[in-house]
Amino acid sequence: MKSRPILSRTATIAILCLLGSVAPLLADEPARHTFAIGTNDFLLEGRRFQIRCGEIHAARVPREYWRHRLQMARAMGLNTVCAYLFWNQIEPRPGEFNWSGQADVAEFCRIAQSVGLWVILRPGPYSCAEWEMGGLPWWLLKNDDIRLRTRDPRFLDAAKKYLKEVGRVLGPLQITHGGPILMVQVENEYGFQGNDTEYMGELRQALLDAGFNVPLFDCDPPYHLKDGYRPDLFPVVNFGSDPAGGFKTLREILPQGPLMCGEFYPGWFDTWGAPHHLGNPPRYLADLEYMLTNGESFSIYMAHGGTTFGLWSGADRPFKPDTSSYDYDAPISEAGWPTEKFFQTRELFAKYLLPGETIPEPPATNSVIAFAPVVVTKCAPVFARLPKAIRDDQPRTMEKYDQGHGCILYRTTVPAGPAATLEAASVHDFGFVFLDGKRIGVMDRRNSNFKVHLPERKKSATLDILVEAMGRVNFGQEVHDRKGIHAPVKLGGEELTGWQVFSLPLDDRMLAGLKFRAHKTGGPAFWRTTVKVEKPGDTFLDLRTWGKGVVWVNGHCLGRFWNIGPTQTAYVPGCWLHAGKNEIVILDLLGPEKPVIAGLDQPVLNELHPEKDFARAHRPKVTLQLDSAKPVLAVQFAPGSQMQEIKFEAPAKGRFFCLESLSAQDGKPFAAVAELDLLDESGRPLSHEGWTIAYVDSEERDQEDGTAENAIDGQTANYWHTEWSAAQPNHPHQLVLDLGKSQTISGFRYVPRQGAGGGRIKDCRIYVGDDLIHR
Ligand code: GLA
Repeated sequence: MKSRPILSRTATIAILCLLGSVAPLLADEPARHTFAIGTNDFLLEGRRFQIRCGEIHAARVPREYWRHRLQMARAMGLNTVCAYLFWNQIEPRPGEFNWSGQADVAEFCRIAQSVGLWVILRPGPYSCAEWEMGGLPWWLLKNDDIRLRTRDPRFLDAAKKYLKEVGRVLGPLQITHGGPILMVQVENEYGFQGNDTEYMGELRQALLDAGFNVPLFDCDPPYHLKDGYRPDLFPVVNFGSDPAGGFKTLREILPQGPLMCGEFYPGWFDTWGAPHHLGNPPRYLADLEYMLTNGESFSIYMAHGGTTFGLWSGADRPFKPDTSSYDYDAPISEAGWPTEKFFQTRELFAKYLLPGETIPEPPATNSVIAFAPVVVTKCAPVFARLPKAIRDDQPRTMEKYDQGHGCILYRTTVPAGPAATLEAASVHDFGFVFLDGKRIGVMDRRNSNFKVHLPERKKSATLDILVEAMGRVNFGQEVHDRKGIHAPVKLGGEELTGWQVFSLPLDDRMLAGLKFRAHKTGGPAFWRTTVKVEKPGDTFLDLRTWGKGVVWVNGHCLGRFWNIGPTQTAYVPGCWLHAGKNEIVILDLLGPEKPVIAGLDQPVLNELHPEKDFARAHRPKVTLQLDSAKPVLAVQFAPGSQMQEIKFEAPAKGRFFCLESLSAQDGKPFAAVAELDLLDESGRPLSHEGWTIAYVDSEERDQEDGTAENAIDGQTANYWHTEWSAAQPNHPHQLVLDLGKSQTISGFRYVPRQGAGGGRIKDCRIYVGDDLIHR
């Protein structure tokens, strides 16, 4: 493909300005307004418009509460709401579009407009957002070698059809047609993924062809702004702190034009097994005030996070599944309550209103109810009623059986024989292994443990591997996340064949077919009870005595639970309850400690129980061999939070990259890293595909999520941090990346921990080699 001529920046801004005002006038349309990108400011009706935006996802709020949450957003002082669309929710099967119920985004936009909010639309095709596969539909993975988020025609053609459909449904809601949509985002943080400007150009063109005529923009974190940059897309920058630094980097590609932060993080999302994230309110308010006084625009990600209902929650890379609560420590809580941060934000915004603006009062919060513990006596064991088996020689992934989500059971017969190791190539994500119905072990993707010890069998026995698929990874190359067993499965080195495969998609049809009986079970089972409610209100199901699984109320899937925490409750919107009897169904793959369920009037979002984990994600045991290795480089980093790019004198080759911190900027014993990128021979960042943490000497896991994966997950808002709560080990600290194969490295980029707090590294040594780690 030929590359497009590069437009001058001034020409670009002129064109972008034009885009907001050239729509043809249709006869029966409501009054139109104009929105444009000027040389210094966004312009609404030709006047300076500072965008005070916050993100809310229609899919994460019960439809019945859309108006309430949007009124809350307006009452916090926002003038715009930003909304991702999730392609996989809108097109569940190729060519089958669903815009109803929770996916009725047009209605969400109309309500936003009616409460006085403009809309920024982020239709994808890729959205990230801790949503299953970043919003990409699982059925794309039926193509074995598809390359998602590239110009692979199997991806691009499907994406274009989807965007055309988005244009059909939401195009009429653009400001140019009298609607609230001001701007539309192309892709999402593509700079982290690659640098194919043609790919971004194709998606841009697809949106134009779909009838979008408002300004099109793209977003990236500061240190990836230049990757995949196109002058015909208006760039905005994403960060959780240090607006001055972020905007300075943005100015390098946008010498003039309004500055906007596309995602400003007031908190962060949670993953299972790690502490609940809390933001830093004073810093959040100071950064907001900085942007307000400097005339910069922003979007708070999230203004209201809500809940990732259903099986839609995603997973962080390499594999840290996200909780269903998406509270995010946002100013508007998961249940739509105003938090202290809400009132502080409102007060702050009130000082910086545009001429003629006022902020409405917040609406009343929804009523909350509680109910006393109910004993659940009826259950339906998973193994008791299986669907028709599919016979297969080798187990294949879920997508191959045309299944997108849920669980899948693989069964075969193993002969009599001595104890031996059962091993799968890999399992996505948890494989509960049973021998003649008795659980004997768990294969666990978190620590790449796909081996289970199979005891001696006196006669042949039934082997069951019940695989639970959690959300597909929503970030990086790991979005190619095929679920189920990746063959071969071997016993004592011999491949097992002759499988029966049972699809358990956990969908409405499957639930409707369950037969509940009053009996005891120790194994994986669905449990059912009813609770009587006098007057419906919001409540929080207390799942602390349950193991791991999924919960439904009156047929609405509330999401996943897991006793390791940090989330221990499931948010039940009162609008999904009715006066009288309400049905609760719980799938527990481990079995409850006590089968009781209560409704609380408060959520429990921060209660970790590592002792309950069947295999705490410990790292494989390895030894570090630095004594004989020669450092490639010794470097002293500059203070501050800016990304620093360091080039080696000569490229180095190796499978392992070790960063060894010798001291911190503040003289304390800690080390922290927000993000590391390695550069190839031409100075471009290497893909993080297949990277894992080979070794880390220390990481904080109890009082804060300081796990080492945070240094390679592509996000600068979180970080690896050495231990500080139970112990405080001193330098040197080593973080070793396993790149999966030997690679040539010419240098690296280090992003220090952002915002306030310790751990920024001063002196450090770098090692690259194939022998830094011994297993
Ligand atoms: C990135 C993405 C968002 C979201 C946040 C973390 O910046 O663009 O979709 O995943 O990280 O919540």
